[in-house]
Amino acid sequence: MLEPTGRVAMVSGASRGIGQAVAERLAQAGYRISAGLRDPRRAPAGWYAYRYDAEETGSTEAWTAATLAAFGRIDVLVNAAGINPMARFLDSDETAFDALIAVNVKGPMRVIRAAWPHLVASGSGRIVNIASLSGKRVRNENAGYAMAKAALVSLTQAVRREGWEHGLRATAFCPGFVETDMTAHVTKQPRDLMSQPDDVAAVIETLVRLPNTASIAELLLNCRHEDML
Ligand code: NAI
Repeated sequence: MLEPTGRVAMVSGASRGIGQAVAERLAQAGYRISAGLRDPRRAPAGWYAYRYDAEETGSTEAWTAATLAAFGRIDVLVNAAGINPMARFLDSDETAFDALIAVNVKGPMRVIRAAWPHLVASGSGRIVNIASLSGKRVRNENAGYAMAKAALVSLTQAVRREGWEHGLRATAFCPGFVETDMTAHVTKQPRDLMSQPDDVAAVIETLVRLPNTASIAELLLNCRHEDML
């Protein structure tokens, strides 16, 4: 397993939910954390927190540059920022669909692009893209969310292909229901029977600590039984 000491991890969407749990977990493990938040003033005291808004031109590059200025290297990137507005494929208004692509697909792609040379320089760079089981199958009417998460899985495969010879390893992490603000409206599954952000974060810590010779391309995590998932 890779030792966290000295390694720098960028975590997007770290203001709450899965991203926050990941940032806290990796910090406790010894990683130096650069948190990307839409409102960095909301970060806990002592955090290196920078503005990152997937829909704001230039914020990705500014966050990456600030991370380098603070730490001088980037070893790990966890793309946790995401949204899930309803976007049915029969809806003629594509506003929600466009937002899903912008935040859930182009957002991670741009952070990866900005951090790429530094992740390559690490020799053991790690990227975890938080996709979803919705990227693996369609179980509700939000086709736009499923399509965006499937695209994020494909992006992860592309990153693995380009990055492999540089020691860069990427994982598409695909959870089912996790008890966060995003699932506050969900009634299909009791909240206490959803996966917990801390458990998700523990799995992600393992993913980023695995050596170059043990890489997981996709990891599916469920809080309930589904055939094959
Ligand atoms: P959440 O709603 O609690 O947190 C989402 C985070 O993304 C927040 O920090 C928010 O500020 C940030 N964010 C939203 N729009 C942004 C933008 N334009 N730029 C920068 N940051 C932005 O949701 P949760 O559950 O923590 O979700 C994290 C990731 O996990 C998301 O990508 C989500 O799609 C994915 N996911 C969540 C599941 C769940 O059941 N909660 C299941 C599967 C995947």
